[in-house]
Amino acid sequence: MAKNSLLNILNGLSEAVFLIGENREIVLTNPQAVEIFGKGLEGQNIVRAIRHPDCLRATEDALAGVESTSAVIVLERPVPTTYQVRAAHLPEDDIFGARAVLSLADISHVREAEQMRSDFVANVSHELRSPLTALSGFIETLQGPAKDDAAAQERFLHLMDREAQRMNRLIGDLLSLSKVEVNERVRPTGMADVVSIVRRVITTLSSQAEDDQKKVVFHHPDLVAPIPGDEDEIIQVFQNLIENAIKYGAPDTEVSVSIDEMERVAGVRGPALSVVVQDRGPGIPAEHIPRLTERFYRVDDSRSRDIGGTGLGLAIVKHIVSRHRGRLMIHSERNVGSSFTVLLPATTST
Ligand SMILES: Nc1ncnc2c1ncn2[C@@H]1O[C@H](COP(=O)(O)OP(=O)(O)O)[C@@H](O)[C@H]1O
Ligand SMILES: [Mg+2]
Repeated sequence: MAKNSLLNILNGLSEAVFLIGENREIVLTNPQAVEIFGKGLEGQNIVRAIRHPDCLRATEDALAGVESTSAVIVLERPVPTTYQVRAAHLPEDDIFGARAVLSLADISHVREAEQMRSDFVANVSHELRSPLTALSGFIETLQGPAKDDAAAQERFLHLMDREAQRMNRLIGDLLSLSKVEVNERVRPTGMADVVSIVRRVITTLSSQAEDDQKKVVFHHPDLVAPIPGDEDEIIQVFQNLIENAIKYGAPDTEVSVSIDEMERVAGVRGPALSVVVQDRGPGIPAEHIPRLTERFYRVDDSRSRDIGGTGLGLAIVKHIVSRHRGRLMIHSERNVGSSFTVLLPATTST
């Protein structure tokens, strides 16, 4: 095979590839290898190009005749990156005196996803365990010290009910999250009347708002056409945002929800519907804002738990908005309040 044809094949691969001669000299590389290790590789000893013991051991094995070996290595340059390394033996009659082929595939994203999954499982277990531990404690108390104390029993049963509800909410939110994640790449097919959805959500939350001495005011144009969207999911978006505004706003203040129709807006194709949920209160310190939509991220852990938050609401909102090809924007000013803006495409564009 001509060198050019071989190069064309190597260029077409996503891995960094090295052909190595019997004296460990690099015979041929592809641009992907140059990108990681720099120019001037050909002719260099592989030991000097890739200074990693596992990688060199694999190369040695391949040169010695082992058909194929693999390893996972982390190289620090240019930034720490995880590679799946494979080294394979090449028979005598092969091209350009090469006796081994070494390839490095960047698997950092796979590793990251694995890490995220295992962090998530650890978080979920932790979140489920705390109400469960509380419940076990209450059961023990009811069986022992509070056995004949009717007043204490009443109090403990009330607390137990709260913990059970917390577990229930957490499981509900986990199921919603997994459902929206599965559907994230599938476009919603229905139509959603956002004004009527928001009105219903406000009604559902009104008693909670009253308990918190808050009033929710709603502004919207007279006629707003339904937009393409999944009604159940859009309900979840505004339930979460309006509930947050009620929970985290200061007492005796107003939460305002305003809908506007926009002809053009950055980041959304075609005309859009803008829904702003605004509260008056302590606001959110700027450094937390970029992380609010992470699962289980809370600014004030104990406050969120006290008021029954799962820490999953904004993660659910983010996924739903992205499934609808919309945008979520968060602004907050210390001691003034926060606003959460949802932009949703008003028409189906291609
Ligand atoms: N309107 C708001 N004002 C202040 N902080 C907020 C607001 N909305 C959300 N947060 C912060 O963002 C965190 C994540 O929100 P969310 O995902 O809905 O979880 P939670 O279940 O705690 O409400 C909350 O714990 C809270 O710290
Ligand atoms: Mg919430």
